[in-house]
Amino acid sequence: MESALTARDRVGVQDFVLLENFTSEAAFIENLRKRFKENLIYTYIGSVLVSVNPYKELEIYSKQHMERYRGVSFYEVSPHLYAIADNSYRSLRMERKDQCILISGESGAGKTEATKKILQYYAVTCPASEQVETVKDRLLQSNPVLEAFGNAKTLRNDNSSRFGKYMDVQFDYKGAPVGGHILNYLLEKSRVVHQNHGERNFHIFYQLLEGAEDELLRRLGLEKNPQQYHYLVKGQCARVSSISDKNDWKIVRKALSVINFTDNEVEDLLSIVASVLHLGNVQFADDEQGNAQVTTENQIKYLARLLGVGGSLLREALTHKTIIAKGEELVSPLNLEQAAYARDALAKAVYGRTFSWLVNKINKSLAYKKQKRGRRSATVLGLLDIYGFEVFQHNSFEQFCINYCNEKLQQLFIELTLKSEQEEYESEGIAWEPVQYFNNKIICDLVEEKFKGIISILDEECLRPGDATDMTFLEKLEETVKNHPHFLTHKLADQKTRKSLDREQFRLLHYAGEVTYSVTGTSYTTVTPLPDIGTMCNSENPIINHCFERSELTDKRRPETAATQFKNSLSKLMEILMSKEPSYIRCIKPNDAKQAARFDEVLIRHQVKYLGLMENLRVRRAGFAYRRKYEIFLQRYKSLCSETWPMWEGRQHDGVAVLVKHLGYKPEEYKMGRSVISFFPNLWLSHLGVCSFLQYDTFWFLLSSAITIQSWWRGTQGRRKAAKKKRAVETIRRFIKGFIYRNYPRCSENEYFLDYIRYSFLMNLKRNVPKNVLDKSWPTPPPSLCEVSQLLRQLCMQNMVWSYCKRISPEWKQQLDQKVVASEIFKDKKDNYPQSVPRLFINTRLGTEEINPKVLQILKNETIKYAVPVVKYDRKGYKPRARHLLLTQSTIFVVEEAKIKQRIDYANLTGISVSSLSDSVFVLHVRCEDNKQKGDVVLQSDHVIETLTKIAMSADKVNNVNISQGSIKFTIGQGKEGIIDFTSGSELLIAKAKNGHLAVVSVFSVRGCRAWEGK
Ligand SMILES: Nc1ncnc2c1ncn2[C@@H]1O[C@H](COP(=O)(O)OP(=O)(O)O)[C@@H](O)[C@H]1O
Ligand SMILES: [Mg+2]
Repeated sequence: MESALTARDRVGVQDFVLLENFTSEAAFIENLRKRFKENLIYTYIGSVLVSVNPYKELEIYSKQHMERYRGVSFYEVSPHLYAIADNSYRSLRMERKDQCILISGESGAGKTEATKKILQYYAVTCPASEQVETVKDRLLQSNPVLEAFGNAKTLRNDNSSRFGKYMDVQFDYKGAPVGGHILNYLLEKSRVVHQNHGERNFHIFYQLLEGAEDELLRRLGLEKNPQQYHYLVKGQCARVSSISDKNDWKIVRKALSVINFTDNEVEDLLSIVASVLHLGNVQFADDEQGNAQVTTENQIKYLARLLGVGGSLLREALTHKTIIAKGEELVSPLNLEQAAYARDALAKAVYGRTFSWLVNKINKSLAYKKQKRGRRSATVLGLLDIYGFEVFQHNSFEQFCINYCNEKLQQLFIELTLKSEQEEYESEGIAWEPVQYFNNKIICDLVEEKFKGIISILDEECLRPGDATDMTFLEKLEETVKNHPHFLTHKLADQKTRKSLDREQFRLLHYAGEVTYSVTGTSYTTVTPLPDIGTMCNSENPIINHCFERSELTDKRRPETAATQFKNSLSKLMEILMSKEPSYIRCIKPNDAKQAARFDEVLIRHQVKYLGLMENLRVRRAGFAYRRKYEIFLQRYKSLCSETWPMWEGRQHDGVAVLVKHLGYKPEEYKMGRSVISFFPNLWLSHLGVCSFLQYDTFWFLLSSAITIQSWWRGTQGRRKAAKKKRAVETIRRFIKGFIYRNYPRCSENEYFLDYIRYSFLMNLKRNVPKNVLDKSWPTPPPSLCEVSQLLRQLCMQNMVWSYCKRISPEWKQQLDQKVVASEIFKDKKDNYPQSVPRLFINTRLGTEEINPKVLQILKNETIKYAVPVVKYDRKGYKPRARHLLLTQSTIFVVEEAKIKQRIDYANLTGISVSSLSDSVFVLHVRCEDNKQKGDVVLQSDHVIETLTKIAMSADKVNNVNISQGSIKFTIGQGKEGIIDFTSGSELLIAKAKNGHLAVVSVFSVRGCRAWEGK
């Protein structure tokens, strides 16, 4: 990315105030050149905009560009017309102070374009409503109409405004444009009858001939060819490549209807335009007495019809003059030259007055109609687009007026910026080094001073009895102002200068340069001619009728000279401008060839000089970029400092001092006067400081908006918080009361509390409901919900059981069934039962492969449900023998290898005995009626609980399991009995005791595994 410094090298600085070598004109022009080369046509001198005509379309006027400049602080964006337009608009809205934008520069520098662009900016960016849209439209559409009638192609500009224009735009309190008013100055009427080579008459003539439909041209008696009209051929350039008269005609026709012209008015207006062309073609020849006679009857016929006057009256008026002497009207004929002069004078008067009528008509359609009484009147923004300084080979009275006007505007600029700024420092007692600038008041005085000024002398000369001529005027001038340093004539000049001056010329040393004026040709002394007012007053064309008033005929006063008229209108304009806050746009023309990208340094240097830009810059640099009265400054920025916000009680001066210190400004960056504070624009950094300072304008607005929004939001938040607290207090109170009355029957005092308790119990239960059947926890219910809680608990348990049961497999169910039976039989009765609880019962402990095949052969019809290795104790000697115990559907088999040693049908099994101790010996009691039976069987199984449970269940002898404490008797067969004594000891022992009993000592065990019991 390009660094700021290299960018600066390439495109220069965007504010001349930042130019290091600010006193150098060369540096100034170099900066302009750099920027121009990069198509950066706008540069600031402080708040003054310098604009160089690019002579090509630049992409910087789109709607997006307008939006970029809207409401943005001046220095935040690159220099632009829109910044000036927006700044003025914002001052107008914020301070409700009328504004004006003065656009100056020489012909072709881009003034009119700038005016149009500013108007467009307002049309797009200002608030709108239906009524406002109409006004915007009219403001915009008045332009093409005024340009058609008041602009012409000159050597300098293809669309040169040949009149001065000051336009007021009125804005209502909402900032919407609601009306407008135009003041026009000094239309260059001589152009109607004469154009220099390469120049044209006013656009409207060509537009009418090129664009109008045949029927209209027929009605106006016109031909399409401009060459047919004397008034259009003088400059010999009816066609211009940059202008499309045909298109422009369409635009003008449309614009006329937008600004409220009826069809009749348009027809009347065009009749006048046509009549001027016809007038130009009126020819004379002299008769025998040398008096002029009209030779072109056809023209008179058209003229009579178009202007609505009698043909013979018109003919008479064109060839005679009326002199009023001693109250009597004397009519005398004119010679050829006089008649031609009278004809041209009439053409100029008709056109000139029609132009003024047109402006008035536009003003009527733009007039601001106040809607309601009592509403504040509109604020006004004025746009001045007036001819720039003109210097030609041959300078006539018109150039004199134009240059005088520019002197006045320069004077205004000096008054409002250079002078007023310096005077303010003085009156404020601020130390200040005065900047030298040329005050052109001396030239203004030379032109307009009473009794001694050129215009006064001119008036005097015209009023003097006897014939005033241009030469007598010049002599008088020489006599009166001969010592003036800015005035020269042939006679007054020294030898060397004299060569450059003719005898009928005078030279003025304007602030912008020397201009030599000729007094002959276009006469200074001619009082505005009164061409045939009598005839025109009777016109049936309403516009002409309106323009030539009968009162003029009877007014005995001598009419004012054109110069005095102009002087008066200028002084009115100055008054208007003085009452407003000005902004300046200084337009510069880069070359005379109307070419893009051509930077003619000589031409530009001249313009920089006469626009006074260097002086302007010097004052800006030496002065303070920002000045404000203490009270205004404090009012606007007090919110930035806690000590001054919201009110500063002490002196304004002290408040401002505190504020500025708080803002971190160094003493060398500002000066405090008697009533004003000023800030220096010291090069880059402090410039940025100023920028940021100026941004406080925006900041102030944003701040106050933010404060309003914040206060509303805080208020809302506060109210919400308070309401919440109130609700909380009420709830706590209800709780306390409810707690006190909790044991009372339900009543209004406790219902909320009780409901809450219930609710919270149920909610708590919901969160903590037992997850499985073994979880015995349950929240304690409040008294009122004891019964419900009980029911819920049962329900919950049933539900858990049910869902548990649903989930268990058949194998597991079988297991559980067996465990339940084991529990029923042994729980709390046999010491080694608890150890068995966690161990699963196995389906069978011997697989078929472990059982002798012969046994399997014998049992082929019966399925073995359970098989387990056991130890059998002989009935007599109690010798232990390893055996297999097999259970089938109906029988218990005691098997030794391949031999079935004993077979006990379940039906013959009378009971099962086992001790309560932790041994694993048991006795199967067998019915002994059958001799085959050998008697009861004493067995030992390592899985005694499992084995016995299986036997009991298979044989359906669950209730026949006898658990003995101490001894078990059993039958040995044929009525004999054996006894087994069970005792606890430290070592397991199963042996025949001395008493002949079988002694079973089981290892002492604590019945400690109760925990398993429930599982
Ligand atoms: N900003 C601009 N952009 C493009 N062309 C411009 C611009 N300003 C002026 N011009 C060109 O210069 C011509 C003369 O400008 P204009 O405003 O009529 O000059 P002035 O009113 O100062 O005599 C315009 O017709 C247009 O072609
Ligand atoms: Mg112009």
